[in-house]
Amino acid sequence: MESLLLDTVRKSRIPAKLDFYQSATGLILGLFMWVHMLMVSSILLGKDAMKFVAGMLEGSILRGEGDHGYPILVTLAAMGIFTLFIIHAALAVRKFPANWKQHKVFRQQMSMMNHDDTNYWYTQFITGFIMFFLGSVHLFIIMTHPDKIGPYASADRVVSEWMWPLYLVLLFAVEFHGTIGLYRLAVKWGWFDGADPRATRKKLKAFKKALTIFFVVLGLASLGAYVKIGVEQINNDNVGGRYTRVSSTNQ
Ligand code: HEM
Repeated sequence: MESLLLDTVRKSRIPAKLDFYQSATGLILGLFMWVHMLMVSSILLGKDAMKFVAGMLEGSILRGEGDHGYPILVTLAAMGIFTLFIIHAALAVRKFPANWKQHKVFRQQMSMMNHDDTNYWYTQFITGFIMFFLGSVHLFIIMTHPDKIGPYASADRVVSEWMWPLYLVLLFAVEFHGTIGLYRLAVKWGWFDGADPRATRKKLKAFKKALTIFFVVLGLASLGAYVKIGVEQINNDNVGGRYTRVSSTNQ
């Protein structure tokens, strides 16, 4: 009897544990995406800046040969992110509507309540579904072409290899999903509750909105910069060419 009771208690803790892992992987991925977008947007500071960042990503500092590093480090980083991404998605699938009927009931309740936090759940469901496919394509390409990150190589991928439509959709999905996810975590774990949690929630919502706008605008501007360079690459007949920083020691 006692062991049966213990077994039941242990089992009932599983959903809480799974929830915790979903939150923890989401937190890491959300913060990673902020760093990632800042790194990608280095192109707005110029080709040299982006090449420098790409070199650092490869660990060029360890090698001491200009912007050349060890591309395997990029593969390993992408594999790590991909693993978290898969774990996070697998844990999220638990909460997806099981069939069309459940989905319809949820939609009806959503329109009746028109409650922000319920609407957020639906946005997470839709954007998560989009990211599942588009994010996997991007991560696989980066994982298998770790040496092709740079002002010219990235711009070629965006334009000549037709990644821009994928990035355009993925950008919106990621930015909405990421900021809503982090907002929900902050509310759930009461990070900034203070004396008046209601007032905090309102401020958090405003901050969330500002962050979404900031990262979408930054992403669109960066994508525009890659498209511009990618088109120049075609016009200059330089598709596949590699960029070398003026001050870099490697040729
Ligand atoms: C270690 C993992 C990752 C690396 C090394 C990486 C690297 C890059 C690079 C170099 C670009 C510039 C374009 C290109 O070269 O193709 C880019 C763009 C982009 N990445 Fe990632 N990425 C990673 C993970 C992710 C993840 C997990 C997501 C979302 C699921 C993501 C979403 C995007 C988006 C939306 C863009 C377009 C950005 C824009 O609009 O300016 N990336 N990534």
